[in-house]
Parts: sequence; structure tokens; C-alpha cells
Amino acid sequence: MEEKKESFGSRIGFILAAAGSAIGLGNIWRFPYLAAKYGGGIFLVIYIILVVTFGFSLMVTEISLGRRTGKSVIGAYKHADARFGFLGPIAALVPFVITPYYCVIGGWVLKYLVTFVCGQGAEATSDDFFGGFISTAGQTSVFFIIYAALTAVVVIFGVQKGIEKVSKILMPILVLLSIGIAIYVMTLPGAGEGLKYYVLPTFAGFTVAKLLKTVVAAMGQLFYSMSLAMGIMVTYGSYMRKQDSIEASTRQISFFDTLIAIIAGLIIVPSVIIFSGGDAAALNAGPGLMFVTLPKVFDSMRGGYIAGAAFFILVAFAALTSSVSLLETMVSIVSEKFKLGRIASTTVCFIIVIVMGMLSVLGYSSWSEVTIFGYQILDFFDFISNNIMMPIVALLTCVLVGYIVKPEYIEDETTLNGETFKAKGLYNIMMKFVCPIFMIIILLTPFFVEI
Ligand code: PHE
Repeated sequence: MEEKKESFGSRIGFILAAAGSAIGLGNIWRFPYLAAKYGGGIFLVIYIILVVTFGFSLMVTEISLGRRTGKSVIGAYKHADARFGFLGPIAALVPFVITPYYCVIGGWVLKYLVTFVCGQGAEATSDDFFGGFISTAGQTSVFFIIYAALTAVVVIFGVQKGIEKVSKILMPILVLLSIGIAIYVMTLPGAGEGLKYYVLPTFAGFTVAKLLKTVVAAMGQLFYSMSLAMGIMVTYGSYMRKQDSIEASTRQISFFDTLIAIIAGLIIVPSVIIFSGGDAAALNAGPGLMFVTLPKVFDSMRGGYIAGAAFFILVAFAALTSSVSLLETMVSIVSEKFKLGRIASTTVCFIIVIVMGMLSVLGYSSWSEVTIFGYQILDFFDFISNNIMMPIVALLTCVLVGYIVKPEYIEDETTLNGETFKAKGLYNIMMKFVCPIFMIIILLTPFFVEI
């Protein structure tokens, strides 16, 4: 079923669905730990520059490609140029790598949600709580499987519409609650230092290698957070109505996606500095950062456990809308390729998610000595998807658009409703020169500096 006839009923419907996919753990869990690790302010500035240049150009490209060809990721590239048909399957492979470990982190969120809802938030503040949890394979796998099953149930029963409705209400609450928590954090003693670290770029001790690493990390985060370079936006574009503005939609989606990431960082990065007594090493905690730091923030707050419970419920919802879009993509690929029904293909994908996800679970527990190129298993999946597979897809997309079908192919689609493509100049330069060169640098960097 390659021809997609149905479309979103309204522009806002499209924006919400795309933003629902984009806004998730990437913003709340991943962005803050990268910002903390890669120098705070510098990471923030680099990230914002990348969003308005690369992120914008790639998102316009993917949505236009989908809408113009009317095909999902597997067919769209082939339709644009037969020689680029192979790109569809490569992009389609990315969700197979991301979904399993995404569900593992979703399981961590569930664990915290249950802990806070059951009024045991105080336990989560101890330094060993997070470490103790992820190193017990039994517990982590139970929460992981429950989270993956929830995602699969939504995909099977197709209750997305319901989820979308609920998240339309919950997302604004998440934003407001996060702003409230961020303001609270700003009132804590020591917050000034933390805020300075987060927003002011400091170039002291910055080497070229470090700058490169920061750019590579920010770029990987950009793909991940904006759900780019894996065909999701191509597929969504194929459902978009012809009269709606691609350029304006892209700006709005990237704005909200970035805003939420920045607010999450505003809570987490200064808090790390506050609660570690200014210990810079604490900023390097990596994937566990949000889970280790947030309970301390809630603990210090009056009524903090209620805020904590509410926060984790909202984060779980944000994550669920993203994992549903990831699993949905896997399911549509499997059902198209193997001509399976919805339930059968969801079952197949669920099994893949469980098997691969268990590798990530074990990688942090029973098999914690196992590393691949120096990475824990979960971090390795994260690395190959964000730093290898997505840059390859992005690079080839730029070659396709910049040199084969030419940027006019995309421009025609963006101007279909009579508007002008305002960022045309920037877009052309990005697709032809800056993006491809950058992608090559990103792909080569791991060979020269240790990421
Ligand atoms: N963008 C989502 C997030 O930030 C993750 C995601 C990636 C979702 C790819 C769908 C596809 O959490």
C-alpha cells in the first residue's frame, strides 16, 4: 500500500502530529545531558544555530519530498530518482535501531512515575537509586516490557487519535509545569552559577577537537530531536494537505521542539551544579542525568512529590507519542514489505523491539563489562543511529536534492499554495554546500577524535 490518499484534516492536525513525534525523551532526557556534558552555553548556541539552518532545511526537504511524491519513506526517494531508491530502506532502518532503546528509557520513566505516584519519591533521591535500578536486569526489563507493550497496544488499536487529543491537553501542561519548575530552580542558592554555565558560552580550554565533538553531538541531537533523517517526516509529509504552508509548519515545529529542550535544560543543568555543590564532574553523568538530578529538585520543593509525580506522568506521555510514531513506522514498513496484517506486523515489530531492547537492558546490568567500541550497548545503539546512519541519510538526501533533482524540486512543492519560499537563498546554499560538507566532517570525526 504505497499510495497514501488520506491526509491530515487541518494544518494544526499535521503540526500536532509532527510535533508529537518530535517532542519526547530527546528534548527532556537527551538534550540536557548533552548540554551538561558539552560545555553548556557553547552547546546551546551551536544547537540553536544548527536548528535554524540544518534542521530547517532538512525538515523542509523531507516534508516536501513526502508531499510531492505522495509516498512513504520507502517509495519517496525512488520516486524522486530511481537511482536513489536504496535510500528509503536505509532511512527506514533507523527506527529499528532507535525504538528498542527508546522503550528502555521509556521504562525508566515509568519506574520513576510509579515511585513518585506511590509517594516514595524520597527514596529516589538517594545516590544509588538510579544506579541500583538500572543494574538490576529483572526490574528494568519489567518496566521496559510494560512500556513497549503500551506502545504496541496504541499502535494495534490505532488509538492515536485519542492519544493526540489527550496530548493536545497534556503538552501545554507539560510546558507550564516545566516553566514553573525552572523558575523554582532559579530561586535556589547557587542557581546563578548554574544558569551562567548553561547560557553563557565559555571558550576557556576549548580546543578544535572539543569543538568538533560538540558540533557532532549537537548535530546528532538535532536529527534525533526533530525526528529527521529516518523517513518519519517524509511519511508525515505524504499526509499533508497541498494548501498548507510547509515553511511555516517547519518553523513552528522546530520552535516548539527547541523551546521544550531549552526549558528542560534550564531545569536540569543548573540543578546538577546546585545539588553537586559545584562539582563539574557531575555534569558528565550521561544518560542517567535527568533521573539522578530531578528527584533532588523535587525533594527540595514544598509539595515536590506531587510536582514530581505530575512531571513524570507528562514526560511519559510525551515519550509515548514519540515511541508510537517510531513503532508505527516500523509496522508500516514490515506490513508493506511482507504483506502482513496490522496485528501480525505489530507483533513482529514488538518482538524485534523486545529482543534488541533486552540487549540494552543487559548492557547496563548483567553485561555491564560488554562494550562496543568503548560504548555500553544502549549508548552504542544511540551512537550508530545518530552519528552514523542519520548523517549518511542526510548526506545522500542533500546530494539528491542539491545535485540530482535540484532544489527547485522542493521549492516547487513549498510554493504550491501560492506563497513564496522565503528562505530560498539559505536553503540552496545549505543543501548544495554546507550540509553535505558538514555531514562528511561528522562521519569522519570519529576516526580522528574520540567521541
Ligand atoms: N524526536 C523524538 C524525541 O525527541 C524521538 C524520535 C526519534 C521520535 C525519531 C520519532 C522518531 O524524543
